[in-house]
Amino acid sequence: MTDKPATPRPAPSAQAFVPFVSVDAMMRLVHRIGLPTALAQLTDRIEGDFRRWPEFDKTPRVAAHSEIGVIELMPTSDGTHYAFKYVNGHPSNTRAGLQTVTAFGVLARVATGYPLLFAEMTLLTALRTAATSALAARHLAPKGAKVMAMIGNGAQAEFQALALQAVVGIDTVRLYDTDAGATAKCVRNLAGSGLSVIPCTSAEEAVQGAQIITTCTADKRLATVLHDNMVGAGVHINAIGGDCPGKTELAPAILARASTFVEYPPQTRIEGEIQQMPAEHPVTELWQVITGQAAGRASDRQITLFDGVGFAIEDFSALMWLHEALGTETGAAQMLDLIADPDDPRDLYGMLMRSRPEG
Ligand SMILES: NC(=O)c1ccc[n+]([C@@H]2O[C@H](COP(=O)([O-])OP(=O)(O)OC[C@H]3O[C@@H](n4cnc5c(N)ncnc54)[C@H](O)[C@@H]3O)[C@@H](O)[C@H]2O)c1
Repeated sequence: MTDKPATPRPAPSAQAFVPFVSVDAMMRLVHRIGLPTALAQLTDRIEGDFRRWPEFDKTPRVAAHSEIGVIELMPTSDGTHYAFKYVNGHPSNTRAGLQTVTAFGVLARVATGYPLLFAEMTLLTALRTAATSALAARHLAPKGAKVMAMIGNGAQAEFQALALQAVVGIDTVRLYDTDAGATAKCVRNLAGSGLSVIPCTSAEEAVQGAQIITTCTADKRLATVLHDNMVGAGVHINAIGGDCPGKTELAPAILARASTFVEYPPQTRIEGEIQQMPAEHPVTELWQVITGQAAGRASDRQITLFDGVGFAIEDFSALMWLHEALGTETGAAQMLDLIADPDDPRDLYGMLMRSRPEG
């Protein structure tokens, strides 16, 4: 008795395939481009999209909170492309050997709704968050700032320091983390970067002589990482880690003294440092500083605060950057059979039945 030859399964159509950028592919792509170049390109890309801010659909991200963390969806569109990111924030994850933040995302064509790209975004989020901090510092930090304090030396930390080096020209980073092991990891990772790297044993020590202070800690409760007496005149602060209701890093007295710059006020008032202030607390939108519609730093003594929570347009910019980079970095993406695309668009059922087991 001979085996009956299996009926060939129908091959997916060309429309079925969506380029997928895996973690491995992202790592190789960043090294081919060069990390400082990638950070500088992303900063420029985000700046370009902030310049055309009114063209985007905007909404505060959709958050599902639990006692220990949050899962969020971050959508936006410029009318031609649509993007969303899935991202979590679980500060206790590191104790279980997991990351605080992981992410993936999709870029799609508005005209058809078909995805153009599906990508890991854990690395890409670290890159775009650092690029956004660099963009804020480019427009708000004192000119010629060379020294940055980095409070919170976890997964985002090296990216923040390297972006500020590439875009703003800092030459020294002063590190502090409540976990000395995190600081030691950062010192190791930044060796050879060209930065002078100074580990510190307190936040007070870290901010000594710093013109830029970045807070990037993770704690799902109101924390005071930066006290009022630690912030001198003329400093620029990038407050990155406070990005959820009940999760802040700065003493409210700093907010009372500083000029605050934000991404999208309806989201920042829910999630940012300014959740500690009255609803009418004055803020300036960063895109308006970039386009010249609002003043940025007005004096050498002004304290400028970028209350960064992470906004969907930054992820849109990052996915567009990635999509363009793939154009020249052939072979970086795998093709995923992601979209069911029957020959007759109304015969989805018939397509399913063509793969029915015989018997
Ligand atoms: N604004 C944005 O766009 C954006 C993007 C990504 C991540 N984040 C936020 O940034 C934060 C850091 O992210 P991560 O991936 O680096 O997290 P992580 O858990 O890897 O690192 C956080 C570090 O903060 C340290 N820390 C906690 N409390 C501290 C304190 N009081 N003083 C000094 N150090 C302290 C921890 O020991 C840890 O090393 C998270 O809260 C995350 O949600 C914001």
